[in-house]
Amino acid sequence: MEEGTSALSESQSSNTEYRVSDDGKVKVPAFITRPEVYKKVKADLDEYKWIDSDYLLATYPKNGTHFAWEVMTMLLQGLADNIKQPKEVLMVDIFPITGSEECFPSPRVLNTHYRTDVLPAEFRKAKTVVVMRNPKDTFVSLYYHEKCLNPLFNPVKHAALASLKLEDFLQKFLYNKDIDYGSYFTYTEYMWSRRAEPNVLVIFYEDLKLNTAATIQKVNEFMGTNRSPELVQQIAESTDFKRMKQAKVETKMIDSVKKVMAGSPVSQENRQKIIQQMYRKGGIGDWRNHLTVAQNEQFDAFLADWEGGKGIPFKY
Ligand code: A3P
Repeated sequence: MEEGTSALSESQSSNTEYRVSDDGKVKVPAFITRPEVYKKVKADLDEYKWIDSDYLLATYPKNGTHFAWEVMTMLLQGLADNIKQPKEVLMVDIFPITGSEECFPSPRVLNTHYRTDVLPAEFRKAKTVVVMRNPKDTFVSLYYHEKCLNPLFNPVKHAALASLKLEDFLQKFLYNKDIDYGSYFTYTEYMWSRRAEPNVLVIFYEDLKLNTAATIQKVNEFMGTNRSPELVQQIAESTDFKRMKQAKVETKMIDSVKKVMAGSPVSQENRQKIIQQMYRKGGIGDWRNHLTVAQNEQFDAFLADWEGGKGIPFKY
């Protein structure tokens, strides 16, 4: 399933920028915080020369980016202390990469929600950890992101999203209408198709949540960080949902971060609210509390027709 033309025409209503694969076949709506910042973000991304000691974390939105980034960064640093600088600084989709060295010298974990075929070829040679999450929990998490987080990120542009209905968003999510970064389903198919490449490790959010230490150990081996079983266990404890959320709430912005974040549209006042909402439930199966029987049947019927998803071992 490529990003279809019908989906594109739906998306064009509010997106004027796309990221396109080298062969022109895949085109996904770009994520734009502010147009003037996006210009620099895009220029930096397109010209970036990959640093071999760095890592890439590639996730569809709400698939556990913060969780996995914390794990990977702790492995790199060899410490189980929660990271004080926000991962957003290394999110190549929203911040210009060139300013990031001040907060995060190499080696570091760059992160993106773009499928890697719409990034410059440089990014496809990166050692890449991909995190996937079951589509129903992704949907619910993304619904709350749209409804509660986006109005905090940009109160003027996204005010109307506060009244977004789950039913309306379900149709958007399943049929890829106006979704930043494009369809969850095409994203997941493509990233899953890369799983046998030696520079790619695919893990699942549910495994990170349920078998945290064992999954961190897989990442440890893949990254070549060689951290001890004791440190792996400590990282598992530090990234436990409640503990990590508390650490993030309590983290004060240090000066170098403030400087880098000066380009961010997010007010300081909203930052705390954003952290509270970003670390929402942190579990598996919350979709059961949200989907009606009819909505769940529609979702299941959609998944039964999703050829590219067959064989992906999701846990619900
Ligand atoms: P929920 O909305 O279901 O709570 P991303 O970082 O890609 O935006 O993903 C956000 C999702 O990951 C949210 O899911 C969030 O609560 C969850 N999450 C963040 N940190 C986590 C952690 N340490 N353990 C478990 N889940 C976490």
